[in-house]
Amino acid sequence: MKLIFLGAPGAGKGTQAARISAALAVPAISTGDIIRSAIKEGTPLGLEFKRYTDAGCLVPDDLVNALVKERLSKPDCVNGFILDGFPRTIEQAKFLDENGIEIDRVVDIEVSDDTIVKRMGGRRFCPRCQRTYHVLYNKPAEEGICDTCKVELCIREDDKPETVLHRLSVYHEQTEPLIAYYEKKLCPVDGTKSPEEITEKILEKVRV
Ligand code: AP5
Repeated sequence: MKLIFLGAPGAGKGTQAARISAALAVPAISTGDIIRSAIKEGTPLGLEFKRYTDAGCLVPDDLVNALVKERLSKPDCVNGFILDGFPRTIEQAKFLDENGIEIDRVVDIEVSDDTIVKRMGGRRFCPRCQRTYHVLYNKPAEEGICDTCKVELCIREDDKPETVLHRLSVYHEQTEPLIAYYEKKLCPVDGTKSPEEITEKILEKVRV
């Protein structure tokens, strides 16, 4: 099963990718997480990424394409994968096509911009395992602490309100055209339901 998860920033792609990955036993590959790891390691490439992510802009296609190609060559991808946050431009989608990577379904998680802005303010993440929480909708057992790693949760640098608005405009301009590009493989789901309901709906649609 080779899946793409599309959706605006904060639509719930990461939350659902983790749940569907567990249900289908395929790895969830988040380009955002790979980029954040490189930034944390402080590599020269990581420093270059940081300029883009902090501004809420997309990292250039050639850099992200190379990361994805390398990750998809790993043995755990042989039976399928979930791409969370890739492709994000028509050029990136063409890169998959040109490399013979055939996608089965494209899940589009639909959420309005207003809801996104409200959600992003409450997002927290674990700096160790990258798991995502929300102060109201997806709370950890102990406030501010990761359930798995027991470390303090953090706020993402690019979740500042002004950066979120810019990320949304980048999404509408550069990523939304992928909905038409993948029209025949598209599985739209209502991203305003509860995480459990959305997981159920995604599994129902991708298993058809
Ligand atoms: P990335 O990390 O991919 O960010 P994003 O697409 O902006 O998506 P998010 O991670 O912000 O949100 P999400 O949809 O995963 O939502 P989540 O599940 O966390 O990318 C970051 C940056 O890296 C980009 O800006 C860019 O610079 C760069 N980048 C990455 N990929 C790239 C690419 N392919 N090309 C170029 N550059 C790239 O949920 C959000 C919050 O809502 C959480 O708090 C969660 O708990 C909560 N929540 C989730 N579901 C629900 C629900 N159903 N109800 C209520 N709350 C919910």
